[in-house]
Order: sequence, then C-alpha cells, then structure tokens
Amino acid sequence: MTDGTTAGSPSGERGRCGWRTAAAAALYGPGGFYRRPEGPAGHFRTSVHASALFAGAVARLLCRVDEALGRPEALDFVDMGAGRGELAAGVLAVLPPEVAARARVHAVEIAGRPAGLDGRISWLDEPPEAVTGLLFANEWLDNVPVDVVEVDASGVPRLVLVAPDGSERLGEPVSGEDADWLARWWPLPAEEGLRAEIGLPRDRAWASAVERVVRGLAVAVDYAHAVGARPPFGTLTGFREGRETAPVPDGSCDITAHVALDACAAAAHAPASPPATPGGPAARTLPAARLLTQRAALRALDITGARPPLALASTDPAAYVRALAGAGEAAELTAPGGLGDFGWLVQPAGIPDPLAGSGA
Ligand SMILES: C[S@@+](CC[C@H](N)C(=O)[O-])C[C@H]1O[C@@H](n2cnc3c(N)ncnc32)[C@H](O)[C@@H]1O
Repeated sequence: MTDGTTAGSPSGERGRCGWRTAAAAALYGPGGFYRRPEGPAGHFRTSVHASALFAGAVARLLCRVDEALGRPEALDFVDMGAGRGELAAGVLAVLPPEVAARARVHAVEIAGRPAGLDGRISWLDEPPEAVTGLLFANEWLDNVPVDVVEVDASGVPRLVLVAPDGSERLGEPVSGEDADWLARWWPLPAEEGLRAEIGLPRDRAWASAVERVVRGLAVAVDYAHAVGARPPFGTLTGFREGRETAPVPDGSCDITAHVALDACAAAAHAPASPPATPGGPAARTLPAARLLTQRAALRALDITGARPPLALASTDPAAYVRALAGAGEAAELTAPGGLGDFGWLVQPAGIPDPLAGSGA
C-alpha cells in the first residue's frame, strides 16, 4: 500500500502521521466515526448484535463470578467499550432478580449515553476505580489505535505514515519500546513489504483495565492472533455500512486490526509499572490468564447450538420453531471461520477461573 518513499521527519509531511494518531482522531475526535449517532451496529455485527444468547451467556458468567466472590453486597458488571450499551442492557435484563438487585452495571464508552438506556446502567468514560465482579470487553481492544510498520527495501521496519485520504508512505525506522515490542511479540523477517501492528497501546489499555478489577474476572473478546502465527501483512482494515473497506482515516469508516491477545495477557499478568509511590507496594502479580476460543467459552457457558429434537415439532410447534431459531443463532456465535474463532482472554483476580475445564 505504500509508495516506498521515506518521509523525512517522524510525523512526515503536512497532514501525514502514524496510523495510531490518525485512527485516534478519525474514530474518537470531534465528529469521529464512533461519535456518530448510528453507533457500531450501523456498520458491523458483533456477537452482542448477533444474538441475545450472547448476553445470556455473559450473565451466566457474571453469576459464576458472583458465586466465587461469595455473593457480595454490590456486584459490578463493567461493559468496556460498550457501543450503545446493548450488552449491559441485555445482561441486566436476564440476571436472576436476586443478583440484579445487587448488581451495579456500568457501561464504559467514549461516545455519549444513548437515549432510552435503562436508568440502572451508569454511563462512564472510564471503568470505576475498584471493580468487584466482571469486566467484559467485547471487541474493544481491536479499536484501540495502533501504529503500523512495514519493512523497507533494505530490510528495515519503518513506521507507516498515512494521509487523510488513506495513502501511505514510510517514515522513520522503528525504535525504542516499539522496536522492543516488535522483537518480542511480532518479529519481522527482513523481507520488503512485510507489515505488523504494534500492539503496545492495547497491552497498556488492557493492563490498566485489569488493574481496576480488585476481585473478580476480566475478559477481553476479539479477533486475535498469536506469536508464531501473525499475519505477514498485518490486518488493518476498515468497515462501513456492513462492508469491509480500505481503511481511510477521515471518520467515514471503522479502522480496526486483529489483536495480539497473548501480548495483552502478558502485560496484565505481570505489569511493568513501577510502584505508585517510591518504596510503595509493587504492582500485584495475577495468576496467568487463559486464552480460549469463543466456541469453547460459550460451550462452557451452556451454548451448544444443538438442534431441538424433531419430536418437539409435533408436540409443541411454537417451542420447536423458537428452539430452532436459537440453535441457528448459537451456530453463528460459535461458527468456525467466524465468531466462534474469536479469542477470549480470561483473567481471574483473586478468584478461581470460572471457565476452568473448558478446552481451547
Ligand atoms: C467495535 S465497538 C464494540 C461495541 C460493543 N462492545 C459490541 O460488542 O457491540 C468498540 C467500542 O469501543 C469504544 N471504545 C474504544 N476505546 C474506548 C475507550 N478507551 N474507552 C471507552 N470506550 C472505548 C468505541 O467507541 C466503540 O463504541
């Protein structure tokens, strides 16, 4: 996608900058894509939009976390990167009344609170300081902007600079902590044209969200890849009105890239941050997180996609049709090559893993 010329300064010529800066302005700046009234559902379909079964499964997970916490007086559910609060509302709607009565449901979102949202849901621009419960981030991290690098003709990875029309040029060689991240998480052979996305801002975003979970569970769900099997040309892409499109940082489309969830997991497991006060307590070390597919996670939460028995069609035709529709939706949520291949990064804090025993 680049024209191969090298810009002379880190920010390149006028109007050009790295993808991280460009996407941040295009998605979240004034008039940015995610501030528009139609919301994410106007442009693409997440698991939350695909079926209410998803919110039902997350509600069951919240109940397991509640049990593990010993049914606290106040149980937090944080919908991180909440879109229009669809998951928060869906979970609240199906919680058992006794749990709903103790639940404090928070939607964390850059865009404004949508009209008509359930008044019991608080609308925040960052997670509460101290969460006891479940923090759930569905397709949040892929929208945390990242820089893109590309290997030049001499085999050197350089920052990709982009103009508002989406045209690209190569900038300075990658250096410092970005180069360190690449070396550890996405090593690039010296082959011209290979590309990578530097996941460091996502590692930090995830680690800082997990830090807020005093006791409970943090889960990030996203399309992901792992070290050793990174896509050779990266995954940066756009979405507009239901179609995949070239990424153009002008606010007209979503700009997204798959997530190095393994790097995020490591960042939250053993955060690099120094003690907040000199000589103060060091950041806590959490148990290792687990990565599993959405298919395995939803199976562990009782979504199987099994078709109803044919006999039901004659004894209760309406129930049969409902069950058949549910099976179709479950199949979409767990489909190989689709939502079922999404990664679930499951990070317990002070409780046993409530999905333990579920396979990859
Ligand atoms: C792909 S949408 C997913 C929406 C919803 N979770 C779903 O699954 O349907 C990502 C959302 O994350 C929000 N977002 C991105 N960065 C954020 C941040 N730092 N704090 C809060 N929300 C954020 C965006 O505004 C956008 O609404």
